[in-house]
Amino acid sequence: MYKVREFETKQLLHGGDYNPEQWLSMPEILDKDIELLTGAGINVVSLGIFAWAELEPEEGVFNLDWMEKIINRLWKNGIRTILATPSGARPKWLADKYPEVLRVSPDRRRMLFGARHNHCLTSPVYREKVARIDRELAKRFGSHPGVILWHISNEFSGECHCPLCQDAFRSWLKDRYTTIDNLNAAWYTKFWSHSYQSFEQVESPSPLGEIALHGLNLDWKRFVSEQTASFIAAEREVVREYSDLPVTVNLMYYFTQLNYARLAREIDIVSWDTYPAWNKWPLVETAEDNGFWHDVMRSLLKKPYIQMESCPSATNWQGVSKLKKPGLLMAQGLQAIAHGADADLYFQIRQSRGSSEKFHGAVIDHYGGADTRVLSEVSEVSEALKKLTPVVGSRTKAGAAILFDWENIWAMEDAQGPRNDDLHWKDLTLKIYHGLCRLGLNVDVIGEDADLSDYSLVAVPMAYQFREGFAEKLASFTAQGGILLTTFWSGVADGTDLCYLGPRPHGLVDVLGLRSEEIDGLYDWEENELVRAQGEDTLNIESLRGPYTCKYLCELPRLSTAKAVLSYGRDFYAGKAAVTRNTYGEGSAWYVAAHAGQEFFDDLMEYLAAEAGLQGPMGGSLPAGIQVTERTDAEHRYIFIQNFSETAWTVEMPAGEWKPLYGNPDEPLPVYGTLVLESI
Ligand code: GAL
Repeated sequence: MYKVREFETKQLLHGGDYNPEQWLSMPEILDKDIELLTGAGINVVSLGIFAWAELEPEEGVFNLDWMEKIINRLWKNGIRTILATPSGARPKWLADKYPEVLRVSPDRRRMLFGARHNHCLTSPVYREKVARIDRELAKRFGSHPGVILWHISNEFSGECHCPLCQDAFRSWLKDRYTTIDNLNAAWYTKFWSHSYQSFEQVESPSPLGEIALHGLNLDWKRFVSEQTASFIAAEREVVREYSDLPVTVNLMYYFTQLNYARLAREIDIVSWDTYPAWNKWPLVETAEDNGFWHDVMRSLLKKPYIQMESCPSATNWQGVSKLKKPGLLMAQGLQAIAHGADADLYFQIRQSRGSSEKFHGAVIDHYGGADTRVLSEVSEVSEALKKLTPVVGSRTKAGAAILFDWENIWAMEDAQGPRNDDLHWKDLTLKIYHGLCRLGLNVDVIGEDADLSDYSLVAVPMAYQFREGFAEKLASFTAQGGILLTTFWSGVADGTDLCYLGPRPHGLVDVLGLRSEEIDGLYDWEENELVRAQGEDTLNIESLRGPYTCKYLCELPRLSTAKAVLSYGRDFYAGKAAVTRNTYGEGSAWYVAAHAGQEFFDDLMEYLAAEAGLQGPMGGSLPAGIQVTERTDAEHRYIFIQNFSETAWTVEMPAGEWKPLYGNPDEPLPVYGTLVLESI
């Protein structure tokens, strides 16, 4: 077993998914690819992601020579390989001979062969066949100098409900609960007379059966993440028998089926695939949403990561296949680097000729020549990345963090609570995020298990689930001088989705100086307002005067030691506190009772950042669409300034001595433009 080496690159990586197995009968195409890729400055490809049928055309018959030739040739031409294990799509012979590898859906129907990502991750046969092909790949290429990283499978997703998975689920439950009485208590099965007498009776959630036990639903999701994590670990251990290369899995945008914080524990470096619908919504919103996801991904392991896939022009699976406007390819690639990535890769290098992705954008299209707009923009990105070589390996340090916790989202969305027509947790989270980004602050996006010691400001919007120890962690963070921001619908249920008895937010009543008494769901068209609090025990803050609008959910707190900053303006709770601050130990704890508008969160985050002593490199607040992030290494600071607004922007240089690494600070920053400064 090899000791894994750190992922290391001396240059920013630029490349993408490459499927030469589709072109083996046309060697002239493969020759041309090398010429086009080297001409465009591509320095890495991901190989073999869906190549199992070519690598093992019959069970136990391996054909890896074509791959070796390609890896060698790429290497000779300065292009390195991220080598995939092919477990994301299996060959027909495997499905035909061993039907147990085919996934079973929640309504207990076994799938037929076809598509991809539809196998059972529990199946011992599947695991064994995957291990066998992985072992062959690792033996042959695990120490090839041109191979730099293992790409385990592809975009893990989905779940299987076959008998093998049912058994595995039951054993997992036995380990977790030991006795069936403990399970019954945790899942509250007396409700509707759903008590179990033995673990053997438990079935995964199904539209044909049990969907009402929220504890079961939550544990099933946890189990699916555990099975996926154990599948990743099994693949990793096999390649490690022959290779000291680090491993990654490629994660996805807004993907909440699997707990990525759990999966990240099995890998050495995070990578993710990003496909925003650019130019569909206001550019500034799309860019910020994408930036948020970069921060989610970077925060998983808190080190440089890889943008593994993005589209070089138009996708072919979104409602409308929109071309990337000139300059956007550069902006998207540099946004990844700005948020801490060391790699900007695409799906795909060469456009396939047939089947379901034949019209998906690619670096090399069906025309196949160098004189295309896309290829020339790809070449420009290569040039930019070369200039940015000094940032390789530098880190993103954030003093502010915001909560995004998969288990919390699972529990909250399933809870059947104050709003079933969308809880709007996404937009609430992004409003707080925007309030911080607008100040040019780096932001980490963290789960409940994260260590808070790096932060002076922590926001935990809609933390419905407080797992054991979370309230205590927030309390000690605040007591030691941290600035804590909480909102409505927090500290409601425990880790098995049992509601806490007693005052809520559970464990934070003293920290916040209040308890929440009731929560009102508003129809989509209703609004309330937040106005300056009047009377005793109020705290008037000039920059938080309001009035602000609020929607969707309004919680009604009863204050003890907290001071009201704003109160509701309308409805039967007009005059009741809606935004409060409480001094706790060395720090302060804020509570926002309602889903307020962006203006409120802009004002609030500016105030809280100042309270927390945080300031972005550009000083004050930035105009809409200007994004500023910072990376640092032992010697330098690197500031990335990007323009995702609709007009050019004249950059005011930050305080200190800087030299441009990329872009010209003396010219206005155009739309999609990027300026990168290095400290002197
Ligand atoms: C990704 C997937 C790729 C390709 C791409 C198309 O989700 O990993 O294989 O299908 O989408 O946009």
